[in-house]
Amino acid sequence: MLLQVGTPVAAGVAKRLAAICEALSEAADAEELARRAVRAAAEVAGARRTELWRREAGQERLEAGWPDETEATPVSPTSGAAEQAVADGPWDEDRGPAGSGGMPPSAQAVPERVDIPLRACGETLGRLVVIEPRRPGPWLELVAAHTAVCLAHLEARQSLRRTVLQMVTAFSELVESRDQYTEAHSLHIAELALQVGLRLGLDPARFDSLIYAALLHDLGKVGVPDAILLKPGALSEAEWETMRRHPSIGRRALERIDLLRDAAEIVEQHHERFDGNGYPHGLAGEAIRIEARIIAVVDAFDAMTTTRPYRPALSRAQALAELRRCAGSQFDPRVVEALLSVVGP
Ligand SMILES: [Fe+2]
Ligand SMILES: [Fe+2]
Repeated sequence: MLLQVGTPVAAGVAKRLAAICEALSEAADAEELARRAVRAAAEVAGARRTELWRREAGQERLEAGWPDETEATPVSPTSGAAEQAVADGPWDEDRGPAGSGGMPPSAQAVPERVDIPLRACGETLGRLVVIEPRRPGPWLELVAAHTAVCLAHLEARQSLRRTVLQMVTAFSELVESRDQYTEAHSLHIAELALQVGLRLGLDPARFDSLIYAALLHDLGKVGVPDAILLKPGALSEAEWETMRRHPSIGRRALERIDLLRDAAEIVEQHHERFDGNGYPHGLAGEAIRIEARIIAVVDAFDAMTTTRPYRPALSRAQALAELRRCAGSQFDPRVVEALLSVVGP
């Protein structure tokens, strides 16, 4: 039962419900949503305990409970603190006439437990378990319904991210399959780039594009002939010119895909140098995106420590010494420092 048209809802309750729904909508992931939902359900229902169970692949698991024991617990005597917490808010004073809006009169027996399925988009995503709710009415159902919609949205977003990552990884493996020397190179640099990004305090919202760009930084090499890409000796100037096109070829391919447009720009900049002597645009310093500066460093480190057709692998110490030597010219010194702190001196 949801709020009926014409139901008198006092301003205090309406305001609090709006704030709760907004907080649920802003949860960054399903875990955070579940934690907020059990707290909100406990508050609006005046419950002793609430739990959110998620259903995935036919299995149920406890995502969050309030109070915040991590395990499902049998009903136990309410702690004073919990009792006080659920009593807070405008709920009791704004209850209105008995029966209006589905509110039980205070004298009515408190149900031992209410199970509310979390349904959205025709699917049951889980359930909200509410133990001894003093107000098992429409406000609780509203919180559950809004939680279900938010959960469906977060699950859809997660599924999309998973699909994009699978697609990007598949493309990355395809690119590397041309060259036995670069097998798993992109995967290594994606892992390292992530660690360096964390060390630099990069905004987590930028991690997805960093990983996509690291995995696909050399996608544009599909436009470089084998005779150049796999040449054991030094490249001629004309061959270098062809080679230098690969960042822009990669950008053009990736920018056609909405979710990869941000990564496309990073890919185009992965051969720019901190001193402005890189390609394709000769960008310098902070005009180069931080993600591209990170990829430049970890790409060079991984390339130097791997055997290539034209040279054997350098030792880790040699590669790190070379990065230190080029800090401030080819590479952003802050990024080199961060890599050193990740892989050791
Ligand atoms: Fe490259
Ligand atoms: Fe590379």
